[in-house]
Amino acid sequence: MPYQYEDAILAEASSDASFLFLTVDPAQKQQVIETLKNIPQLVSEQRQLFPDCELLGLVGISIHGWRALFGDKPTPAELTEQPSLKGPLLSVRDIPYDLVLHIRSLRRDATHSLALTLYRAFRQSVTLAQQTDCFKYLDNRDFTGFVDGTENPVDDQRRKVALIDQDSELMGCSYLNLMEFVHNLPKWEAEPLKTQEDTYGRTKADNIEYASADKPLTAHTKRTSLKDENGNSLEILRHSMPFGNVERQGLMFASYSKTPQHFNKMLRSMVEGDDQGNVDHLMAYTQSEGASLFFVPSANFLHRLA
Ligand code: HEM
Repeated sequence: MPYQYEDAILAEASSDASFLFLTVDPAQKQQVIETLKNIPQLVSEQRQLFPDCELLGLVGISIHGWRALFGDKPTPAELTEQPSLKGPLLSVRDIPYDLVLHIRSLRRDATHSLALTLYRAFRQSVTLAQQTDCFKYLDNRDFTGFVDGTENPVDDQRRKVALIDQDSELMGCSYLNLMEFVHNLPKWEAEPLKTQEDTYGRTKADNIEYASADKPLTAHTKRTSLKDENGNSLEILRHSMPFGNVERQGLMFASYSKTPQHFNKMLRSMVEGDDQGNVDHLMAYTQSEGASLFFVPSANFLHRLA
């Protein structure tokens, strides 16, 4: 299949990624809009410089960015602030970034080159609020030592889960939920293997899912495997990756979906728990300053921006 812009959402896991969180200068919004329109073209050009690197990139716009750029123009249907949550182990608030660039590839130099190209294309009409550079750890494990991404949708289901398929101007667009988690690894590593495995509801070394009846109600995979009222699974397409240095390590959680509501329901189930107060015990070993929701325009949508 020839490359398409939305491969940045749909393609399999990469071994390297960068997330650049940007703030828009409202006085230069026209420059920002012009740059947004050019992003698919700029990604294509950079791919030619790094032909074997599966270089991918896209931009997301938050409600804050949308208002700064387009004022009162109606927002994409489900673009809101990230709803606040408060639980015994974790609280969540909206982090008001305007834009995000999600860039990924098989090589750090390729990722860096595209990040630099896109950032410079904005010609100082944005400022960098935060950059998180990520890398593949072992066989796609989080720093807690567990394989991450196993239950992601596969094949055609990835598109069905991640891209809006209604016949409207939002066709092919997506929503991106981001949340940077910083782990307390000394606390985690002091736990016996059984406690760690119960925390996920999966085995560690060989990554086998527990039988449903054996999963504690506080297991991460129990709290995030949700169904709607018709019994259909709520799905998201995750592209989370580890980041860190020797003092501060964690997971940049990233998920795409045709609606942010699946992520919101999972996060509520993790943070606030069920009627009996069973919250996600993984949150006892990690912390986050908050979350951000972005609308991810298709190449067509970006092209039509005025
Ligand atoms: C499953 C790690 C946060 C949603 C998993 C798995 C791991 C993991 C290791 C099991 C393997 C698999 O990917 O299927 C983490 C870590 C997190 C984190 C380290 C943060 C510190 C989140 C958040 C959400 C989420 C914030 C959504 C709100 C899911 C879902 C699954 C999953 C939907 C698959 C459940 C299943 O069907 O079995 N996660 N995760 N995760 N996680 Fe997370």
